[in-house]
Amino acid sequence: PGTLKEAAAAKGRVFGAAAAQSHMGEAAYASTLDREFNQLTPENEMKWDTTEPSRNSFNFGPADQLVAHAQAQGMKIRGHTLVWHNQLPGWVGGISSRDDLLSAMRGHIAKEAGHFAGKIAYWDVVNEAFQDGSGVRRDSVFQRVIGDGYIEEAFRAARAADPTAELCYNDFNIDGRNSKSDAVYALVKDFKARGVPIDCVGLQAHLTLGNVPSDMQANMQRFADLGVDVHITELDVRMSTPADGSKLAIQANDYKKVVSACLAVSRCTVITVWGVTDKYSWVPDVFPGQGAALLFDDNYGKKPAYNASLEAL
Ligand code: XIL
Repeated sequence: PGTLKEAAAAKGRVFGAAAAQSHMGEAAYASTLDREFNQLTPENEMKWDTTEPSRNSFNFGPADQLVAHAQAQGMKIRGHTLVWHNQLPGWVGGISSRDDLLSAMRGHIAKEAGHFAGKIAYWDVVNEAFQDGSGVRRDSVFQRVIGDGYIEEAFRAARAADPTAELCYNDFNIDGRNSKSDAVYALVKDFKARGVPIDCVGLQAHLTLGNVPSDMQANMQRFADLGVDVHITELDVRMSTPADGSKLAIQANDYKKVVSACLAVSRCTVITVWGVTDKYSWVPDVFPGQGAALLFDDNYGKKPAYNASLEAL
Protein backbone atom coordinates (compact mmCIF):
# COMPACT_ATOMS: atom_id res chain seq x y z
CA PRO A 1 0.00 0.00 0.00
CA GLY A 2 1.41 3.32 -1.05
CA THR A 3 -0.34 5.71 1.33
CA LEU A 4 -0.98 5.93 5.03
CA LYS A 5 -4.73 5.56 4.64
CA GLU A 6 -4.43 2.47 2.44
CA ALA A 7 -1.94 0.81 4.76
CA ALA A 8 -4.07 1.64 7.80
CA ALA A 9 -7.24 0.39 6.14
CA ALA A 10 -5.54 -2.91 5.39
CA LYS A 11 -5.09 -3.26 9.16
CA GLY A 12 -8.64 -2.19 9.95
CA ARG A 13 -7.43 1.19 11.18
CA VAL A 14 -8.08 4.79 10.29
CA PHE A 15 -5.26 7.30 9.73
CA GLY A 16 -6.24 10.93 10.10
CA ALA A 17 -4.96 14.47 10.28
CA ALA A 18 -6.10 17.70 11.85
CA ALA A 19 -6.81 20.26 9.15
CA ALA A 20 -7.72 23.93 9.02
CA GLN A 21 -10.25 25.39 6.62
CA SER A 22 -8.01 28.44 6.16
CA HIS A 23 -5.37 26.32 4.39
CA MET A 24 -7.65 24.31 2.14
CA GLY A 25 -7.12 26.71 -0.75
CA GLU A 26 -3.44 25.73 -0.91
CA ALA A 27 -3.31 22.99 -3.52
CA ALA A 28 -0.45 21.01 -2.00
CA TYR A 29 -2.12 21.11 1.41
CA ALA A 30 -5.45 19.77 0.17
CA SER A 31 -3.90 17.21 -2.15
CA THR A 32 -1.60 15.82 0.56
CA LEU A 33 -4.52 15.62 2.98
CA ASP A 34 -6.74 13.89 0.44
CA ARG A 35 -4.07 11.49 -0.77
CA GLU A 36 -2.80 10.25 2.60
CA PHE A 37 -5.56 10.52 5.18
CA ASN A 38 -9.02 9.03 5.60
CA GLN A 39 -10.05 10.93 8.70
CA LEU A 40 -10.17 14.67 9.34
CA THR A 41 -10.28 16.57 12.62
CA PRO A 42 -11.12 20.28 12.31
CA GLU A 43 -8.19 21.92 14.11
CA ASN A 44 -10.17 24.86 15.53
CA GLU A 45 -13.44 25.20 13.63
CA MET A 46 -15.62 23.20 16.03
CA LYS A 47 -14.36 24.83 19.21
CA TRP A 48 -16.81 26.78 21.37
CA ASP A 49 -15.34 30.23 20.63
CA THR A 50 -15.98 29.65 16.93
CA THR A 51 -19.31 27.82 17.08
CA GLU A 52 -21.09 29.84 19.80
CA PRO A 53 -19.17 33.09 20.23
CA SER A 54 -22.11 34.67 22.01
CA ARG A 55 -24.89 32.87 23.77
CA ASN A 56 -27.36 31.16 21.43
CA SER A 57 -25.66 32.63 18.39
CA PHE A 58 -24.16 29.80 16.38
CA ASN A 59 -21.62 29.77 13.58
CA PHE A 60 -21.02 26.44 11.88
CA GLY A 61 -19.79 27.86 8.58
CA PRO A 62 -16.07 26.99 8.68
CA ALA A 63 -16.75 23.56 10.17
CA ASP A 64 -19.48 22.88 7.59
CA GLN A 65 -16.94 23.51 4.83
CA LEU A 66 -14.46 21.06 6.31
CA VAL A 67 -17.21 18.50 6.87
CA ALA A 68 -18.32 18.82 3.25
CA HIS A 69 -14.74 18.33 2.07
CA ALA A 70 -14.25 15.29 4.29
CA GLN A 71 -17.52 13.74 3.17
CA ALA A 72 -16.69 14.29 -0.51
CA GLN A 73 -13.38 12.48 0.11
CA GLY A 74 -14.95 9.65 2.10
CA MET A 75 -13.08 10.67 5.25
CA LYS A 76 -14.40 10.03 8.74
CA ILE A 77 -14.79 13.16 10.83
CA ARG A 78 -13.71 13.69 14.43
CA GLY A 79 -15.65 16.41 16.19
CA HIS A 80 -13.27 18.44 18.34
CA THR A 81 -14.38 19.52 20.90
CA LEU A 82 -17.60 20.22 22.81
CA VAL A 83 -16.38 21.12 26.32
CA TRP A 84 -12.90 22.53 26.95
CA HIS A 85 -11.43 25.28 29.12
CA ASN A 86 -9.47 26.78 26.19
CA GLN A 87 -10.86 28.64 23.19
CA LEU A 88 -13.92 29.18 25.31
CA PRO A 89 -15.77 32.46 24.74
CA GLY A 90 -15.79 34.94 27.60
CA TRP A 91 -19.52 34.70 28.16
CA VAL A 92 -19.23 31.11 29.37
CA GLY A 93 -16.56 32.00 31.90
CA GLY A 94 -18.82 34.72 33.24
CA ILE A 95 -21.60 32.34 34.30
CA SER A 96 -21.65 31.80 38.06
CA SER A 97 -24.85 29.87 38.70
CA ARG A 98 -24.77 26.09 38.45
CA ASP A 99 -28.17 25.78 36.78
CA ASP A 100 -27.31 28.48 34.28
CA LEU A 101 -23.97 26.93 33.31
CA LEU A 102 -25.50 23.46 33.07
CA SER A 103 -28.14 24.80 30.76
CA ALA A 104 -25.57 26.72 28.68
CA MET A 105 -23.41 23.60 28.37
CA ARG A 106 -26.34 21.33 27.55
CA GLY A 107 -27.61 23.88 25.06
CA HIS A 108 -24.22 24.17 23.38
CA ILE A 109 -23.88 20.40 23.06
CA ALA A 110 -27.46 19.92 21.86
CA LYS A 111 -27.05 22.55 19.19
CA GLU A 112 -23.55 21.68 17.97
CA ALA A 113 -23.70 17.89 18.16
CA GLY A 114 -27.26 18.12 16.83
CA HIS A 115 -26.14 20.23 13.87
CA PHE A 116 -23.54 17.65 12.83
CA ALA A 117 -25.51 14.58 13.87
CA GLY A 118 -25.05 11.64 11.52
CA LYS A 119 -21.86 13.11 10.04
CA ILE A 120 -19.48 12.65 12.95
CA ALA A 121 -17.72 9.34 13.58
CA TYR A 122 -16.19 10.38 16.92
CA TRP A 123 -16.74 13.32 19.24
CA ASP A 124 -14.17 14.59 21.72
CA VAL A 125 -16.94 15.41 24.17
CA VAL A 126 -14.73 16.67 26.98
CA ASN A 127 -11.10 17.74 26.47
CA GLU A 128 -8.35 18.08 29.09
CA ALA A 129 -10.40 17.96 32.31
CA PHE A 130 -7.50 16.85 34.49
CA GLN A 131 -4.50 18.83 35.69
CA ASP A 132 -1.21 17.85 34.16
CA GLY A 133 0.99 15.74 36.41
CA SER A 134 -1.73 14.68 38.83
CA GLY A 135 -5.09 13.02 39.03
CA VAL A 136 -6.76 16.21 40.20
CA ARG A 137 -9.47 17.90 38.18
CA ARG A 138 -8.38 21.01 36.34
CA ASP A 139 -9.74 24.26 37.72
CA SER A 140 -12.11 25.37 34.95
CA VAL A 141 -15.39 27.24 35.08
CA PHE A 142 -17.17 23.91 34.52
CA GLN A 143 -15.36 22.28 37.44
CA ARG A 144 -15.84 25.27 39.74
CA VAL A 145 -19.47 26.03 39.00
CA ILE A 146 -20.95 22.62 38.12
CA GLY A 147 -18.55 20.30 39.94
CA ASP A 148 -17.29 16.81 39.14
CA GLY A 149 -20.58 15.85 37.50
CA TYR A 150 -20.11 18.15 34.53
CA ILE A 151 -18.26 15.48 32.54
CA GLU A 152 -21.05 12.93 32.74
CA GLU A 153 -23.64 15.62 32.05
CA ALA A 154 -21.72 16.47 28.87
CA PHE A 155 -21.56 12.85 27.75
CA ARG A 156 -25.28 12.31 28.36
CA ALA A 157 -26.11 15.46 26.40
CA ALA A 158 -23.84 14.39 23.53
CA ARG A 159 -25.43 10.95 23.30
CA ALA A 160 -28.89 12.51 23.21
CA ALA A 161 -27.88 14.97 20.47
CA ASP A 162 -26.05 12.45 18.28
CA PRO A 163 -26.76 8.81 19.08
CA THR A 164 -24.49 7.51 16.28
CA ALA A 165 -21.17 9.19 17.12
CA GLU A 166 -18.62 7.42 19.30
CA LEU A 167 -18.15 9.60 22.37
CA CYS A 168 -14.59 10.12 23.62
CA TYR A 169 -12.78 11.66 26.54
CA ASN A 170 -9.55 13.26 25.22
CA ASP A 171 -6.42 14.47 27.05
CA PHE A 172 -2.65 14.96 26.79
CA ASN A 173 0.10 13.26 28.79
CA ILE A 174 -2.11 10.24 29.33
CA ASP A 175 -0.18 8.23 26.72
CA GLY A 176 1.65 6.14 29.32
CA ARG A 177 0.69 5.09 32.81
CA ASN A 178 0.90 7.96 35.27
CA SER A 179 -1.27 9.64 37.89
CA LYS A 180 -3.21 11.57 35.23
CA SER A 181 -3.98 8.53 33.08
CA ASP A 182 -4.85 6.63 36.25
CA ALA A 183 -7.49 9.30 36.95
CA VAL A 184 -8.89 9.01 33.42
CA TYR A 185 -8.91 5.24 33.83
CA ALA A 186 -10.92 5.59 37.04
CA LEU A 187 -13.35 7.95 35.29
CA VAL A 188 -13.94 5.55 32.40
CA LYS A 189 -14.31 2.59 34.76
CA ASP A 190 -16.88 4.50 36.80
CA PHE A 191 -18.81 5.57 33.68
CA LYS A 192 -18.89 2.00 32.41
CA ALA A 193 -20.05 0.72 35.82
CA ARG A 194 -22.86 3.28 36.05
CA GLY A 195 -23.94 3.23 32.42
CA VAL A 196 -22.81 6.75 31.58
CA PRO A 197 -22.30 6.77 27.80
CA ILE A 198 -18.62 6.66 26.78
CA ASP A 199 -17.14 4.78 23.83
CA CYS A 200 -13.51 5.82 23.53
CA VAL A 201 -10.52 7.49 25.09
CA GLY A 202 -8.34 9.84 23.07
CA LEU A 203 -4.64 9.92 23.84
CA GLN A 204 -3.46 13.18 22.32
CA ALA A 205 0.16 12.03 22.11
CA HIS A 206 1.85 15.42 21.82
CA LEU A 207 5.28 13.91 22.35
CA THR A 208 8.84 15.18 22.61
CA LEU A 209 11.74 13.66 20.70
CA GLY A 210 12.88 10.29 22.01
CA ASN A 211 10.20 10.11 24.69
CA VAL A 212 7.50 7.69 23.60
CA PRO A 213 6.35 6.16 26.90
CA SER A 214 7.60 2.58 27.08
CA ASP A 215 4.27 1.50 28.54
CA MET A 216 2.09 3.14 25.90
CA GLN A 217 0.84 -0.20 24.58
CA ALA A 218 0.08 -1.47 28.08
CA ASN A 219 -1.71 1.77 28.88
CA MET A 220 -3.88 1.53 25.76
CA GLN A 221 -4.62 -2.11 26.54
CA ARG A 222 -5.88 -1.32 30.04
CA PHE A 223 -8.34 1.20 28.61
CA ALA A 224 -9.41 -1.28 25.94
CA ASP A 225 -9.99 -3.85 28.65
CA LEU A 226 -12.58 -1.50 30.18
CA GLY A 227 -14.59 -1.84 26.98
CA VAL A 228 -13.74 1.38 25.16
CA ASP A 229 -11.86 2.04 21.95
CA VAL A 230 -8.57 3.90 22.12
CA HIS A 231 -7.69 6.64 19.65
CA ILE A 232 -4.38 8.44 19.21
CA THR A 233 -5.89 11.81 18.47
CA GLU A 234 -3.26 14.54 18.10
CA LEU A 235 0.03 12.81 17.44
CA ASP A 236 3.13 14.90 16.89
CA VAL A 237 6.76 14.57 17.99
CA ARG A 238 8.43 17.92 18.44
CA MET A 239 12.15 18.63 18.40
CA SER A 240 14.34 21.67 18.80
CA THR A 241 14.68 23.34 15.44
CA PRO A 242 16.32 23.26 13.01
CA ALA A 243 15.82 19.58 12.29
CA ASP A 244 18.82 17.50 11.26
CA GLY A 245 19.34 13.95 10.07
CA SER A 246 19.92 12.44 13.47
CA LYS A 247 16.90 14.12 15.04
CA LEU A 248 14.71 13.09 12.13
CA ALA A 249 15.90 9.50 12.55
CA ILE A 250 14.97 9.49 16.24
CA GLN A 251 11.61 11.00 15.34
CA ALA A 252 11.03 8.30 12.74
CA ASN A 253 11.65 5.66 15.37
CA ASP A 254 9.24 7.44 17.73
CA TYR A 255 6.45 7.40 15.15
CA LYS A 256 7.19 3.75 14.45
CA LYS A 257 6.86 2.94 18.15
CA VAL A 258 3.51 4.73 18.43
CA VAL A 259 2.06 3.10 15.30
CA SER A 260 3.30 -0.34 16.38
CA ALA A 261 1.87 0.08 19.87
CA CYS A 262 -1.51 0.97 18.39
CA LEU A 263 -1.49 -2.01 16.03
CA ALA A 264 -0.75 -4.31 18.95
CA VAL A 265 -4.01 -3.29 20.64
CA SER A 266 -7.07 -4.43 18.71
CA ARG A 267 -9.23 -1.64 20.12
CA CYS A 268 -6.73 1.05 19.07
CA THR A 269 -8.61 1.93 15.92
CA VAL A 270 -7.59 5.48 14.99
CA ILE A 271 -4.28 7.31 14.62
CA THR A 272 -4.53 11.04 13.91
CA VAL A 273 -1.61 13.43 13.49
CA TRP A 274 -2.07 17.04 14.58
CA GLY A 275 -1.59 18.67 11.21
CA VAL A 276 -0.75 17.89 7.60
CA THR A 277 2.59 19.71 7.35
CA ASP A 278 5.26 21.20 9.60
CA LYS A 279 4.58 24.46 7.76
CA TYR A 280 1.37 25.03 9.73
CA SER A 281 1.95 23.03 12.91
CA TRP A 282 0.82 24.58 16.20
CA VAL A 283 4.12 23.60 17.84
CA PRO A 284 6.37 26.61 17.06
CA ASP A 285 3.65 29.01 18.24
CA VAL A 286 3.24 27.31 21.61
CA PHE A 287 6.73 25.88 22.18
CA PRO A 288 9.20 28.49 20.92
CA GLY A 289 12.32 26.96 19.36
CA GLN A 290 10.58 23.64 18.70
CA GLY A 291 8.85 22.26 15.64
CA ALA A 292 9.27 19.83 12.74
CA ALA A 293 6.83 17.58 14.59
CA LEU A 294 4.78 16.06 11.76
CA LEU A 295 5.09 13.63 8.82
CA PHE A 296 5.48 16.15 5.98
CA ASP A 297 8.02 18.97 5.93
CA ASP A 298 7.40 22.61 5.04
CA ASN A 299 7.45 21.72 1.33
CA TYR A 300 5.14 18.70 1.68
CA GLY A 301 8.09 16.34 1.33
CA LYS A 302 7.80 12.98 3.09
CA LYS A 303 9.99 12.89 6.19
CA PRO A 304 11.69 9.80 7.61
CA ALA A 305 8.82 9.66 10.11
CA TYR A 306 6.40 9.25 7.20
CA ASN A 307 8.29 6.27 5.83
CA ALA A 308 8.65 4.74 9.28
CA SER A 309 4.91 5.10 9.95
CA LEU A 310 4.02 3.56 6.62
CA GLU A 311 6.40 0.65 7.23
CA ALA A 312 5.02 0.08 10.73
CA LEU A 313 1.43 -0.11 9.45
C1 XIL B 1 -4.45 23.95 18.97
C2 XIL B 1 -4.47 24.34 17.50
O1 XIL B 1 -3.64 23.46 16.79
C3 XIL B 1 -4.00 25.77 17.35
O2 XIL B 1 -4.21 26.20 16.00
C4 XIL B 1 -4.78 26.69 18.28
O3 XIL B 1 -4.25 28.00 18.20
C5 XIL B 1 -4.70 26.20 19.69
O4 XIL B 1 -5.17 24.87 19.76
N1 XIL B 1 -4.71 20.16 22.42
C6 XIL B 1 -5.90 20.21 21.74
C7 XIL B 1 -6.01 20.99 20.49
O5 XIL B 1 -6.85 19.51 22.13
O6 XIL B 1 -7.29 21.53 20.31
C8 XIL B 1 -4.97 22.09 20.41
O7 XIL B 1 -5.04 22.67 19.12
C9 XIL B 1 -3.59 21.53 20.69
C10 XIL B 1 -3.54 20.94 22.08
